[in-house]
Amino acid sequence: MSLHRLVYMSTAVGVLRADELDKVYLRAKASNAAAGITGLLLFYEGTFLQLLEGPAAGISSLMQKLRRDKRHANLIILESSPIETRIFPAAPMQHIPARNLSIGEKQAFSDLRMAVNARPAMVGSPAPGADNGLAAFLASFAQVRAA
Ligand SMILES: Cc1cc2nc3c(=O)[nH]c(=O)nc-3n(C[C@H](O)[C@H](O)[C@H](O)COP(=O)(O)O)c2cc1C
Repeated sequence: MSLHRLVYMSTAVGVLRADELDKVYLRAKASNAAAGITGLLLFYEGTFLQLLEGPAAGISSLMQKLRRDKRHANLIILESSPIETRIFPAAPMQHIPARNLSIGEKQAFSDLRMAVNARPAMVGSPAPGADNGLAAFLASFAQVRAA
């Protein structure tokens, strides 16, 4: 079974209430667990950053759902590649609320969003995140919050 990793950034449509966000997380956890998908979902200042890892077919069908989901828009793929091992092997969808992000993490998130928005010509492939610290930013959550 081939493993795939996909990272995207998207913009929340309207103001998502906390209970609506919770619904997304709960739903994501349940269906990801069933599909063998793991990852990370960050939400800060109206922007989602999600990392998905799992069977290639499962990631692909989830992406079709995500692209149709009206709760967010401007979905930009930052990374999409086959992988040998997962960065986030444990959680069906680790979720870190904005209030738990450190000042440095918020800054890194904003920088990343600016880098992505400043380079629309690079949307898709090669990944805009490849040289702007995306991998290190995401991996830092796996190390710090895995426990
Ligand atoms: C930012 C965001 C992240 C999401 N992440 C997931 C996810 O990781 N897994 C998942 O099954 N659904 C996720 N969803 C919800 C899907 O878009 C979709 O609504 C859900 O899979 C239900 O689809 P279905 O009823 O057609 O099966 C997410 C939605 C949003 C807005």
